[in-house]
Amino acid sequence: MIPQKTVQEILETAKIEDVIQDFVNLRRRGVNMIGLCPFHNEKTPSFTVSPAKNIFKCFGCGKAGDPAKFIMEHEHLSYPDSLRYLARKYRIEVQEVELTPEAVAQQQAEESIYILNEYARQFYQDQLFETDMGKSIGLSYFKGRGFREETIRKFGLGYAPNEYEAFVKKATQAGYKLDFLKKLGLASQYDKDFFRNRVMFTIFNLSGKPIAFAGRIMEKDAKAPKYINSPETEIYVKNKNLYGAFHAKTAIRKADECILVEGYTDVISLHQAGIENVVASSGTSLTEGQIALIKRFTPNIKILYDGDAAGVKAALRGLDMVLEQDMNVRVVLIPDGHDPDSYLQLVGATAFQAFIDEQAKDFILFKTNLLLAETKGDPVRKAGLVRDIVDSISRVPDPFKRSFYVKECARVMELEEEVLISETNKVVRQILQKRDDARRKKPEVKVNIVPEGDGEFPMEAPPEFEDYMPVVGPMEKQATGHEFQERDIARILVEAGGKIYDEKENMSVAEFVLGSIQDVLEDFDNESYKRIAKEALQLLLDKQPINTQYFIGHNDQVISELAVDLLHTPWEYSPGWAERELYLSSQKMPEENFNKDSLSALLQFKLRKIIRLCEKNQQQLKAVPSDDSSQLMRLLKVQMKLNEMRNEVMKQVGMVVLK
Ligand code: CTP
Ligand code: MN
Repeated sequence: MIPQKTVQEILETAKIEDVIQDFVNLRRRGVNMIGLCPFHNEKTPSFTVSPAKNIFKCFGCGKAGDPAKFIMEHEHLSYPDSLRYLARKYRIEVQEVELTPEAVAQQQAEESIYILNEYARQFYQDQLFETDMGKSIGLSYFKGRGFREETIRKFGLGYAPNEYEAFVKKATQAGYKLDFLKKLGLASQYDKDFFRNRVMFTIFNLSGKPIAFAGRIMEKDAKAPKYINSPETEIYVKNKNLYGAFHAKTAIRKADECILVEGYTDVISLHQAGIENVVASSGTSLTEGQIALIKRFTPNIKILYDGDAAGVKAALRGLDMVLEQDMNVRVVLIPDGHDPDSYLQLVGATAFQAFIDEQAKDFILFKTNLLLAETKGDPVRKAGLVRDIVDSISRVPDPFKRSFYVKECARVMELEEEVLISETNKVVRQILQKRDDARRKKPEVKVNIVPEGDGEFPMEAPPEFEDYMPVVGPMEKQATGHEFQERDIARILVEAGGKIYDEKENMSVAEFVLGSIQDVLEDFDNESYKRIAKEALQLLLDKQPINTQYFIGHNDQVISELAVDLLHTPWEYSPGWAERELYLSSQKMPEENFNKDSLSALLQFKLRKIIRLCEKNQQQLKAVPSDDSSQLMRLLKVQMKLNEMRNEVMKQVGMVVLK
């Protein structure tokens, strides 16, 4: 275990730009550095590194964090291991403190589980390939299903013979205790083999170690259950495991998408056909732990559903949770009577791939269409549907996506957009209120260094690693032109407009901000942000108090909706900030830091405006006829003046960011 002091030292020493440059080419852009994101495919760089804040954030895929988080994500390491990695890089000596006897025992227990499971995996594999019964029954079963030998070996498939004590005898002779076999579910309570006369599937953890087994009966229409599974143990926690994750993780990252199916055989079949970014929930509905696991690799899930309409509808209920995680969910219905495996066998790999590409539908729109078909125009049922859909949409954290869904769903349901907007905002407000209450309670932030659970699924990074202050940088995805700066200004006005900016001058944040940009208000690119700014200005002029509630409760739908959106941005301050003193020893709490925030937003805004003027001027310069020297001189002077202004503002930006 790494002592807390060393953890601190590592986190203070590791420089984000050093750490990342071992993997990603970065170039300077202003105070930040940018490069191509290693976590998703992109052609234009949106991966931003802030040396000043010692964090990275990708504005394309949303991944963000500090050096340790980067290593966790990039190298698929647990939190402690990523700390060890950084310690090696910076030659920080890690004197692992001695584990408590319980922790040692725990580690040894886990290690021995892996060893016994590996022994069992080898046993079932040998039975499959080396015994006559195995070959004639097990191997021919798998081959009959179209699995090639390399696939069979890759996925640790095997055969459990039709005997009572084949495994128990061999394993106990090899020195394994019977109690231990029972604990892992390899022996039954009557000391016999638990898996008998079944073909075997090994379940691996993320690092490829065997953690459990499933045995499938071979006869058709047998009385016994089709699959039997190992019980849960310290290292096998069902709701945190996804079958196939070890074999899929590289492909998931590469495709920036995870395909989710139900069954073991679906995973194996698709994988063998070259569709390797596939995992199975093993017949149950998706759990939070499983979503978190997928999210480490990609925010995009494509779910392949087999089964009837009722089953699909039930499955859709569980998916709102995925939306909350800001994942993009698409669904594909496999034609009736088939599952992904059988449909793939039927149509072949190419047609299958084309089918799932073409058929994939956005989850919310899919759900809307499916449920709409059922209401058959009945207004009461339609009202119920609206509630249901609104509930889904409200869970989407990204305001841009939300407004897209509102538009699309309103269209599909033939409703006025306003109806959906106001319904959605109601729910979003409730969600925000709940979050706010939770935040006020200030949950304790645990920083565990000992991995929890099965060890394969590393403990979550402390929550404060998850969201960040806005990093100054390109916002290509979310906004164009100067909208990001304008948005920031609008956000500050809504969030902190009434707060005191300068006590001596008795000046509010809104007065400071609007005082500096009043003359360019008309120049705002974005009409909505302009309205917020103008609204705030009007309040100032009327000497009315400015507060968040005013905007949220505004009669004008557009303003109230936008205010909610602004407060709901992913760039909000992290709730764990207070506990995280590492970078903040000299700073105020972010909640009180709106001075710096507004100054920085203002400067950014100015900078963008100046740069735009520069560009305009340069274009004019290019267009000047070469004989018109007076015009040329005039424009050049303007250019110099603009450059000067730009440099001045840039210097100030740097100071604000670095201060
Ligand atoms: N399952 C289970 N126990 C059962 C039945 C199913 O654990 N008695 C889980 C398994 O993970 C299985 C998944 O649910 O893979 C999907 O079930 P099903 O579609 O019946 O199985 P397939 O994987 O399609 O298996 P096969 O193609 O061999 O019928
Ligand atoms: Mn099947």
